[in-house]
Amino acid sequence: MQLAKRLENLGTETAFAVSGAAAAWAARGNRVFPFHLGDIDLPTPANIVAAMNRAISEGKTGYCAAAGIAPLREALAANIGRDRGLSLGPENIVVQPGGKPVITKFIQTMMNPGDGVLYPNPGYPIYESQINYFGGRALPYRYHETSTGFGIDLEQLRSLAPQARLLIYNNLQNPLGCESSPAEMAEIARIAVEHDLKVLSDEAYFEMRYAGKSSSIASLPGMAERTVILYTFSKKFAMTGWRLGCAAGPEPVISQIAKLNTNDESCTTHFVQVAGVEALQHPEGAAPILAELQKRRDAAIAALQDVPGLKVARPDATFYLFPNVTGLLTRKGFNDVAELAKAALHDIGVSFCTRHHFGTRQPAETEHYIRLAYSGISCAMITEGIGRLAEWARKG
Ligand SMILES: Cc1ncc(COP(=O)(O)O)c(C=O)c1O
Repeated sequence: MQLAKRLENLGTETAFAVSGAAAAWAARGNRVFPFHLGDIDLPTPANIVAAMNRAISEGKTGYCAAAGIAPLREALAANIGRDRGLSLGPENIVVQPGGKPVITKFIQTMMNPGDGVLYPNPGYPIYESQINYFGGRALPYRYHETSTGFGIDLEQLRSLAPQARLLIYNNLQNPLGCESSPAEMAEIARIAVEHDLKVLSDEAYFEMRYAGKSSSIASLPGMAERTVILYTFSKKFAMTGWRLGCAAGPEPVISQIAKLNTNDESCTTHFVQVAGVEALQHPEGAAPILAELQKRRDAAIAALQDVPGLKVARPDATFYLFPNVTGLLTRKGFNDVAELAKAALHDIGVSFCTRHHFGTRQPAETEHYIRLAYSGISCAMITEGIGRLAEWARKG
């Protein structure tokens, strides 16, 4: 069957293939330690579930407004505005089935074919997929390893900016777990203003932090009028499968995105939106989720100290670690992290994604990395799994 030509440019999340390989290995009777899952294995807070059930029994099961129900838009405007120091009204909010649709709708709204789009690499793979699918020019920007994590190569970003019309920025980053210093964020904002770049600020992990305070690039001078924020309920409230999020930004962009909603899905599920209002008004249930993730982070960092050939930073946000495993590769005699990942699954049942799942390796890269997610694995399994990894590494 002949399919549309443009599909040749559509990418995917190749990380899902890792889940498939881990499931197949487990189905053969093996124990698997799932460090590949970006999903959360904790329940959605009970008050949110109860609000959804109430909404269904009250008959909130039909179509609703394409841009989202008024109480949710109002609650999101108040919440996102308060946490970021922005002045937002409901006209600045368009509800989405998850955070991910904001990526495609921002690109469809702001990008013409041939336009250059800066985006992080390593980074969330859907950026590159959507830029290519809609005929943009992908301009990946890189990170360098620092003593405390990773920083954006600002020199490279600045040198690419004249070719770009859009900038995608993911602070509290997947897969790196890193965050910008205030100086780094200020410099990125300056570059955006100087080159008149329109910005997608992917803030999926804004609330997933264990110390310090998040801030948004949208709150810096000259940025609010050029920035669309990606907001999601998925992580904070362990609601990944509910599909609820929004785009927050300038009204002319937001109203066009609402028109895309009408074309794409008509509206986000009504009773899910009602539950979203409950989540924002009574967010107490989110605290135990964050507390558990922090314990897991600490367990993972402690155990990783014993793995020879591996270096890891201790991020204060997200639920990802991105260790440098260049030394481990040498010890085990592998040339590539893909070989390491395959052998780790089959030898010790430890499953993880690698750098390859987060964009094409850039020419200047010499080091090798894997991503360990601790959102879908208990503390006990983290300690045991990484313990196995350490023993395996020691054997050489
Ligand atoms: C950086 C980033 N942006 C966006 C998303 C999409 O989130 P959602 O599940 O709400 O669509 C994810 C999900 O993992 C992510 O890591």
